[in-house]
Amino acid sequence: MVSIKTVAVLGGTGNLGPAIVHELLAAGFSVTGVTREGSTNSTPKYPDSVPVRAVDYGSFEALRAAFQNQDAVVSVVGTLGVPAQRTAVDAAVAAGVKRFIPSEFGINTRKVRGTSIGKILTGKIAVVDYLEEKARENQAFTWTGLSTGLFFDWGLDRTGLGIINLRDKKATVIDSGNEKFQASTLSHIGRAVAGILRHPDETANRYLATASFNLSANELVALVEELTGSKLAVSRVAAADLVKAGEEKLAAGDFRAFVDFLGAHNSADGAGNALSEEESANGILGLPYEDLRAEVESFLRRQGAL
Ligand SMILES: NC(=O)c1ccc[n+]([C@@H]2O[C@H](COP(=O)([O-])OP(=O)(O)OC[C@H]3O[C@@H](n4cnc5c(N)ncnc54)[C@H](OP(=O)(O)O)[C@@H]3O)[C@@H](O)[C@H]2O)c1
Repeated sequence: MVSIKTVAVLGGTGNLGPAIVHELLAAGFSVTGVTREGSTNSTPKYPDSVPVRAVDYGSFEALRAAFQNQDAVVSVVGTLGVPAQRTAVDAAVAAGVKRFIPSEFGINTRKVRGTSIGKILTGKIAVVDYLEEKARENQAFTWTGLSTGLFFDWGLDRTGLGIINLRDKKATVIDSGNEKFQASTLSHIGRAVAGILRHPDETANRYLATASFNLSANELVALVEELTGSKLAVSRVAAADLVKAGEEKLAAGDFRAFVDFLGAHNSADGAGNALSEEESANGILGLPYEDLRAEVESFLRRQGAL
C-alpha cells in the first residue's frame, strides 16, 4: 500500500496550478512549489505557506535535488514546458518519487495519436509514452494521466468557451450544437488531482478521465438565455469547415489550428468525446459531478449579467 504525503508541484503558478495547489493543501498534503529559475511570471504566486524552489528545468541534478523526499510530482507546466517534463521524469525516478502526474488536463491524448489534433499534441503523447516506459523499468515509480475536457469556468470567463458572446448577445455553435462534450471546473480538477494522490493504488499507471459534467453548446445557450431572460443570436459553423481551416493553418505552421481541431473534436455531430460513465474516474476519485446550472449562473454573476 503506497502512501503519498509530500507533493512537488511544477508550474503551480499559472491558470490551473493555483487550484491544484489549493486543493492539495486542503486535502492535507505537504506541498512544495517548483518554479523555473529566473521566472518573471506575474501570474498568481504560490501561497505564503508553500515553500518554493527555483530550479533550472534543463538540469537533471537540480530537478533531482528539488524532488528529494517528495512522494509525488504534479506537473502543471504550460504548453511550452511540456517537452521539459522528460528531464523532470528522469529526475523524479532518480529521486525515488513514487508518482508523477504529467501536465495533461485536457482531451484524452491516449485516444488521438495520429489524428489532426494529435499532431499538435505529440509532445504530451510522448511524455506519457515515456512515463509508461519508466514505470515498466522501475516498479517503485508510477504515473497517472488525467483528462479533464475543457476548463469550464476559466474558458467561459475568457472566451465564453467559444460559444457565448454575452456582450453582443450572440452565440456560435458547431454543427447541430447537440453533441455533448467533457468539461471540468478548475476546482474540480484540483480535487481530482488530490483524489489521485489519496488513492495511489487504484490510480497507479493509469490514464484517467474526469469531468464536472458533459454538456452541449445548445444546452449552454439555453441556460444562458433562460437565466438572463434574453435571447442570443445563434450562428452555426460546420465542423468539417473547422477541420479544413485547421489543416490549412497547420500546413502553414500556425498552431492556432488547435482551436479549430478542438472545436470539431468536442462538438462535431457524432464526435462521441463526451465522458462516458464507464470511462469516468469520478467514482475512483471520490468526486461528485457538479451542477451545470449553478456554474453557468455563477459565470453570469461574475460577468455582471445577473
Ligand atoms: N482543458 C483546457 O481547457 C485547458 C486550458 C488551458 C490549459 N490546459 C492545459 O493545462 C495545463 C496547464 O496549463 P496552464 O494554462 O495552467 O499553464 P500556464 O498558465 O500557461 O503555465 C503554467 C506554469 O508553467 C510554467 N511555465 C511556463 N512556461 C514554461 C516553460 N517553457 N517551461 C516550463 N514551465 C513553464 C510557469 O510557471 P513558473 O513561472 O512558476 O515556472 C507557468 O506559471 C497544460 O497541460 C495545458 O495544455 C488545458
